[in-house]
Amino acid sequence: MKALVATGEPGQLITFAEVAEPNAADGVAVVEVEAFSVNRGDYFQLSGVYGTTPPAGFRPGQDIAGRVVRGATDGSGPAVGSRVVGHATAGWAERVAVPVHALAELPDRVGPVEAAALPLAGLTALRLIRTAGALAGRRVLLTGASGGVGHYLVELAAAAGAEVTAVSSTAERGARLRELGAVAVVRDPADAVGRFDLVLESVGGDSFTGSLARLAPRGTLLWFGQAGRAPVTMDFFEVLTRGAAGATIRHFSHAHSDLPDSQDLATLVRLVATGRLHPEIGRTADWADTAATLTDLSARRIRGNALLTIGATGASAPAGSMDA
Ligand SMILES: NC(=O)c1ccc[n+]([C@@H]2O[C@H](COP(=O)([O-])OP(=O)(O)OC[C@H]3O[C@@H](n4cnc5c(N)ncnc54)[C@H](OP(=O)(O)O)[C@@H]3O)[C@@H](O)[C@H]2O)c1
Repeated sequence: MKALVATGEPGQLITFAEVAEPNAADGVAVVEVEAFSVNRGDYFQLSGVYGTTPPAGFRPGQDIAGRVVRGATDGSGPAVGSRVVGHATAGWAERVAVPVHALAELPDRVGPVEAAALPLAGLTALRLIRTAGALAGRRVLLTGASGGVGHYLVELAAAAGAEVTAVSSTAERGARLRELGAVAVVRDPADAVGRFDLVLESVGGDSFTGSLARLAPRGTLLWFGQAGRAPVTMDFFEVLTRGAAGATIRHFSHAHSDLPDSQDLATLVRLVATGRLHPEIGRTADWADTAATLTDLSARRIRGNALLTIGATGASAPAGSMDA
């Protein structure tokens, strides 16, 4: 079967290759992939931002949606023919083996493109909201708000009763964030008005220090990324004198969760199916365009999530790429 694999070369991150068919096993089903998404983290991994560049042949791909074609051999999880969303490894392929604890079934009203936008970005947003605790009436500042994780965070935090200020580079991107529930959109954390109980920070560099300075005394900053790649520098005395004394800074990884992916994916699917969560799909393209899509994502040319389709999904499988 066909899959996208790492080349190990900085000039061309991925290429198509023939690879072995995946096998079902106890607790592992095989899914025929109809759509997958690419994340900034995938780009970081392939381009060596995490320390090493993956070797040629490495198989990327975390977010998939499709149909089960071989059920788990112990009978667990979704049956053959079930439509599913999964948080996988090696998912940029025609078929992928996925543990049933990382799969959730899809109702008819949630299509494969929408579903494939959910796993990494949606799990991250949902778990950040859970980590943050009660949000009703809390003032929240969110950086990187117009990305895949950011759109989900705005909608979930606003629905939980938070007063959300979103940081986004352009007015056009900000308009959608207001529709999803942000009460204010600013271009830079320094422009945000007032003090915040909670900062959700994922850009790094000056964005981190600028948003830390907006924190209320004894507020919390959840630190979940470094999209701009610039490391963070902090000055004890600045934190003290700029008003955020006693702040809690908490490093966050979506991988540290008390609940299995299947359960949180099922929650995300239920929210989408009932109109309470709206995947923001900035681009849909055929998977032949995955490399170009990764480049555009890294260059901040895509708003929200970037989706790739394999074959005819019945849900907007375009000939070329299409930006929203
Ligand atoms: N901790 C975890 O478990 C976890 C899980 C998933 C993702 N993440 C991290 O969370 C962040 C968001 O992920 P994502 O998938 O939503 O990424 P994304 O779709 O690329 O969104 C990142 C957003 O950050 C904004 N941004 C501002 N300054 C930037 C800069 N200098 N470089 C790049 N982007 C900049 C961009 O919006 P504008 O261009 O409109 O400003 C962009 O929309 C990333 O840092 C990612 O690595 C962490």
